[in-house]
Amino acid sequence: MIIGVPNEVTDLEKRAVLTPEHIKKLIALNLEVVVESGLGKGIDVADQQYQDAGAQVNSSRQEVLSTTDLVLCISTPDREMIDQLKEGCVVVSFFDPYNNKELIEYCAERNVRAISIEMIPRITRAQKMDVLSSQANLAGYAMVIIASQRIQKILPMMMTPAGTIAPARVFIIGAGVAGLQAIATAKRLGARVEAFDTREVVAEQVQSLGGRFVKIDLGETGQTKDGYAKALTPEQLEKQRQGLAKVCANADIVITTAQIPGKKAPLIVTEEMVKGMKPGSVLVDMAVANGGNIAGSAVDKEVEIEGKIIIGVSNLPSTVSVNASQMYSANMFNFISEFWNKEEKQFSLAIDDEIVTGCLLTNEGVICNEQVLKFYSK
Ligand code: NAI
Repeated sequence: MIIGVPNEVTDLEKRAVLTPEHIKKLIALNLEVVVESGLGKGIDVADQQYQDAGAQVNSSRQEVLSTTDLVLCISTPDREMIDQLKEGCVVVSFFDPYNNKELIEYCAERNVRAISIEMIPRITRAQKMDVLSSQANLAGYAMVIIASQRIQKILPMMMTPAGTIAPARVFIIGAGVAGLQAIATAKRLGARVEAFDTREVVAEQVQSLGGRFVKIDLGETGQTKDGYAKALTPEQLEKQRQGLAKVCANADIVITTAQIPGKKAPLIVTEEMVKGMKPGSVLVDMAVANGGNIAGSAVDKEVEIEGKIIIGVSNLPSTVSVNASQMYSANMFNFISEFWNKEEKQFSLAIDDEIVTGCLLTNEGVICNEQVLKFYSK
């Protein structure tokens, strides 16, 4: 089986799907790897290093796509790319299937087997393949660093002969994978950290990282069986905003990471709340590409409202592309090795396997994913 890795098509994506380290490991499993020339450009890895690891480097994108059996990407492929793939080819990528119905139908029509990497179930066996966690973790770190560079303050307390500088106050909304890493990073930098999440079960985790958990009584909020937040009612959301307004007003940095799977992100920080903050405060909205948690945030832009800076970066992992690629590549390797039989040289996506059932969208010319089919039939 030949694995093909085309370059990402946008310059905004600096991550590389595979690093030489994992290419060596794939080759040790009796697999062949073809990468497009320039794959490592965004992580300062030269073609020669890929070659030294055992990959074939090909400068023709068309050949990489049309001669390989398992194609790996990050950004959702477009129709033009699907057109070039071999019939029966497996493509592993972010597919965002809830927003890309036509594309998924086209994959089925062309008999391309689409694996939506973000739909790998969050079960223990699949943790090593979980790109959502590996990338969100780095995004959490990156947000704090970005905010710390934009604020005209230092984060730690400093006692000097000229006086004492109070620590900056950082408020994190949404304490999932990214939020918890943001808390840990802000704490390491010496800030005073507070956090809020509708899932009260995370309070203990926030405290164990040295943050204060902000409590607001929203009534029944709960979480899904997979550990995700449930959407709040409009009344609960309004109550949340009122409860958080004061905490935001006292904060120097507000970082938002609140998401509801399959839905637009909730608007949590209103324009009025932004206006209530101190001039010079910095807000970072991680949900910006999905509707945004902060009023006025814009994709890949900095917006200023009465002296408060709102930052929206759509691809935070790409800002730390070296480590993000290292993690993504490891997730890809773990996924492939889980389903590859080295002795028989066979890749088997058993459709009754819990991981495959969760993430395989199309198979044998039809859409086969129950969850996605249910969503499309609505
Ligand atoms: P996510 O990216 O979907 O959401 C981020 C955070 O936003 C969540 O903590 C959510 O509770 C919070 N949120 C949603 N609406 C909110 C609101 N109105 N106000 C404040 N916060 C709000 O979730 P993420 O970070 O990908 O993971 C969430 C959970 O998934 C984890 O805490 C864990 O329980 C579970 N998980 C399980 C894994 C496994 O392998 N078993 C791996 C990773 C996560």
